Amino acid sequence: MCGIVGYVGSAASSSVSGAAGGRVALDVLLEGLRRLEYRGYDSAGVATMSQGQLSVRKKAGKLSNVLAEIQADPMVPGVVGIGHTRWATHGGPTDVNAHPHLDAAGKLAVIHNGIIENFSSLRARLVAEGVVFESQTDTEVAAKLLGRVFETSAGGDLTEAMRQVVNQLEGAFTLLAVHVDQPDRVVAARRNSPLVVGLGDGENFLGSDVSAFIDFTRDAVELEQDQIVTITADEVAIIGFDGVAAQGRQFYVDWDASAAEKGGFATFMEKEIHDQPKAVEDTLLGRTDESGRLQLDELRIPVAELKAVSKIIVIACGTAAYAGMVAKYAIEHWCRIPVEVELAHEFRYRDPIIDDTTLIVSVSQSGETMDTLMAVRYAKEQGARTVSICNTNGSTIPRESDAVLYTHAGPEIAVASTKAFLAQITAAYLLGLYLAQLRGQMFTEQIRDILADLHKIPQKITEILAGAEQVKSLARSMKDSPSVLFLGRHVGYPVALEGALKLKELAYIHAEGFAAGELKHGPIALIEEGQPVFVVVPSPHGRHSLHSKVVSNIQEVRARGAKTITVAEAGDDDVREYSEEVFFVPETPPMLMPLLATVPLQIFACTLASEKGYDVDQPRNLAKSVTVE
Ligand code: G6P
Repeated sequence: MCGIVGYVGSAASSSVSGAAGGRVALDVLLEGLRRLEYRGYDSAGVATMSQGQLSVRKKAGKLSNVLAEIQADPMVPGVVGIGHTRWATHGGPTDVNAHPHLDAAGKLAVIHNGIIENFSSLRARLVAEGVVFESQTDTEVAAKLLGRVFETSAGGDLTEAMRQVVNQLEGAFTLLAVHVDQPDRVVAARRNSPLVVGLGDGENFLGSDVSAFIDFTRDAVELEQDQIVTITADEVAIIGFDGVAAQGRQFYVDWDASAAEKGGFATFMEKEIHDQPKAVEDTLLGRTDESGRLQLDELRIPVAELKAVSKIIVIACGTAAYAGMVAKYAIEHWCRIPVEVELAHEFRYRDPIIDDTTLIVSVSQSGETMDTLMAVRYAKEQGARTVSICNTNGSTIPRESDAVLYTHAGPEIAVASTKAFLAQITAAYLLGLYLAQLRGQMFTEQIRDILADLHKIPQKITEILAGAEQVKSLARSMKDSPSVLFLGRHVGYPVALEGALKLKELAYIHAEGFAAGELKHGPIALIEEGQPVFVVVPSPHGRHSLHSKVVSNIQEVRARGAKTITVAEAGDDDVREYSEEVFFVPETPPMLMPLLATVPLQIFACTLASEKGYDVDQPRNLAKSVTVE
């Protein structure tokens, strides 16, 4: 999510800007941040050190705002420093919440990527001890704690202080710290968030990915889980969180700079498809308390009002609306509250029935889609409560809603949505389970079981991605198909719609998604010899024997000449004989299936479009954020 860069050069030659080892820290940091800005861009900041002086500049908005600030108020160029570009999670995108954050003495600066799950209990403890906080971030807790430990139990050793602090933290984090009392080093730690060291000659670098330092070195070391690294100009020392000396994974970066921003993938879309395990994992992170109960801190609507909700209306556009359809199936099933799903632009003009027991759930990656925003405003005027499921902290829709449930997919750059979709579905499940918990609609154990299954989803997506070659080779062979149909049922229906939308958006191929049961009421007339039909097959372990009904649908289209391609659950060997090709996805409870079944369809559309030579990141006629009605 956030972009991180760190640098230590050689003080001796620091006057010779540009010479190896003698670069000006500020230049290196700003260049690194420029390259990392794609990771998040709601605020940025840098801290530099030279001769016992710590200098910090930070600003909300794009990197250019910090540059202007530095020009207006020059800072120490430094030989050591850290820099950060932020994608806000805890605390809105303001100057105060921008990183770096300082300790109480103003001698130590910290930057952070990730989410510290137990930050509120740590913060409460520090506040009780008299520590004063300036920001709403989880990061400042780490900074204050680190400063205190440095001066007390760590005896003025920044590496040891970091080791003691990370052992108190839960969640996902990459932390970088500098301290004026140890001005020759940057100390960093990682758990569940990325961190790479760039090895130089008389200088060393840190980055959340190699694009942070690719202009300066291509020799790199990737840190393993739960490791701490201390870099000076001449040394890179790694230890585990247990204090034992350790090693990272050394590698050589042979990508060019633009591939580096894309994590080595040819396009942002491919990278974002591969980001999905992390997007789901991060969206789940920090949302249960120690006893395993769901705790959605951001959902600041009084419990009594949530209990009184009599109807939910989900409003969204495009891919987000399909996530909303999954939300309907899940919330109605788990909470027994009626849920409508409506395209935002239709909702507002149909005179919908809304009162103060109606809960409006808007779903939007950008938080800026004008149709969705206008629908939220309209619903508020009618007295409804509004919750936003959104990926962009501080954007307009969550700001204007009563409450927000952020998805933590990180910045989505490719215009057509992929990882935000899975994160939206994940957040919708959390909302459904939370309402069920609150309203006593499900047993605690049932909720805990579903959460446990959700936590297994990232690994299962990783397995699907590992087997992507099968779907890619099919996509390459189908590049001349004039039309592709998609069928699904129950939560497989929105998956079919999303599969068709991805193909339209990326490959400009006529594609339609249908509810499989609707086939016989019209769409079957489209089937002729050789027509490709994707079928999202429900789990054979699901209720209502939907599996056998969909298998019948497959036979019906095959009998009329269709080429059937199925996405089915591993072990569902019945479908083999009815499919030209089967993509198996790992077993999961039927309600959670969209998080897996969507992935092969995304890969299919992306590969087919690339094979046709199209720009999958910026498809024709589309915009990432549609801010006109
Ligand atoms: C545009 C994008 C779609 C997206 C839709 C809704 O049309 O091209 O990919 O699904 O807007 O965007 P939102 O930011 O509200 O999720």
